[in-house]
Amino acid sequence: MAFLISGGKPLYGCIRAQGAKNAALPMLFATLLCTEPVTLYGVPDIGDVRVALSLLSSLGVKIEYDGSGTLTVDATAAEPPTFSLLEAEKIRASSYLLGATVARFGEGSIPYPGGCSFGVRPLDYHRAGLEALGVLWEEDARGIRVEKRKEKGAVYHLPYPSVGATVNFVLGALGVKGESTLFGYAHEHHVLDFIAFLRTVGAKICLEGDALHIKGGERLTGGSYTVTPDAIEAGTYLIAAAATGGEVTVEGVRYGELSPLLLAFGRMNIPFRFSGDALTVTPASHIRTTAVTAAPYPGFPTDLHPQMTVLLSRAEGGGKISDLVWDERFSYLGELEKMGLRVNRFPHGVRVFESKLHPAVVTSTDLRGGAALITAALACEGESKILEEEIILRGYEMLPVKLFSLGADIRTEA
Ligand code: EPZ
Repeated sequence: MAFLISGGKPLYGCIRAQGAKNAALPMLFATLLCTEPVTLYGVPDIGDVRVALSLLSSLGVKIEYDGSGTLTVDATAAEPPTFSLLEAEKIRASSYLLGATVARFGEGSIPYPGGCSFGVRPLDYHRAGLEALGVLWEEDARGIRVEKRKEKGAVYHLPYPSVGATVNFVLGALGVKGESTLFGYAHEHHVLDFIAFLRTVGAKICLEGDALHIKGGERLTGGSYTVTPDAIEAGTYLIAAAATGGEVTVEGVRYGELSPLLLAFGRMNIPFRFSGDALTVTPASHIRTTAVTAAPYPGFPTDLHPQMTVLLSRAEGGGKISDLVWDERFSYLGELEKMGLRVNRFPHGVRVFESKLHPAVVTSTDLRGGAALITAALACEGESKILEEEIILRGYEMLPVKLFSLGADIRTEA
């Protein structure tokens, strides 16, 4: 399957942000710790969520999903898997099953997780955190096996604010009696939303500066919770609006989560205005150059780096973008160069030159790289073809419908 996009027209209109993929995924796996049903609102109907739901179903978790974001999960009858959870290889978030199953069942095993291909994606921080909690971690060619060996809390200092390792330590700590503390946790809003969800179902977690304090061994109840809006999805559409010279409103966003992007818009002379929870980008008379560095929050979000590269190619004098999170997140550049992007690579980043983009047949390298290809196709006259579009649909709910509602000429080719 492929997307066919005829670009060169400004986007105009209003859409609503989906629930945050990277908040919903840890919440789904955390339901394994809940002794009563959980209802989640705003769960995006995207590929990664469907894989997570399939993994939970294979553990005997009962799921009702109405496809419009409301999901009821009942994990009370869940059982340890009796077969290999092969689907775990499809998404990175399946790594959360390690903390969740060891907390729920005292043991667990998964094949190596998948996810976007940014080179090697180690799990050493996940391992060190769970081992600090007394969990036995064994690896072989088939995957990873964990087993609870102690009932005592622990203190662990993350050497880097890893999103995934933060989630796994919290899940593991909830499964051991006693107080645990995690220093250096990830501060991304979707991580804080995950913690807010856990507190809703009874987890005793408090944040104190750079430390997360967790009281483990307590029963988690059930309840209901609304997933925070997806700032990365919203930012993707706002960047596309700026890149096409259009006027787009995204409803259901929060300023704090988008502030690093809005600071870049300010430097680039891209006008925007907030009204309640709606953010509108309007056409810029000219786009100024800037330099952007993707880093852990409150740095510029790495998941908007590829999309921002396209916008920089529309700026007077281009710009620079570095990524201090993923050394190997630049494979999308080769596809954008087929569309006329001119760059010079340097360690951890690229110098982007003002470029006249043109249509091409290109292939999604990863989720946000694919989003960048769509942004480029929307911004240039003529028809582009984007292959492997299912990679993009892993993270963007109803993407063709949303773009069509903004006036884009987008079709799906079988
Ligand atoms: C999460 O990945 C997100 N995925 C990614 O979003 C996002 O890019 C990333 O956080 C950073 O914000 C989900 O939430 C499902 P990390 P994660 O652990 O948890 C190194 C998207 O587009 N590291 O914060 O895998 C790692 O190699 C996806 O939605 C270790 O060295 O990210 C990387 O350089 C793509 N050892 C850095 O830390 C570890 O044990 C950040 O990784 C773990 C991580």
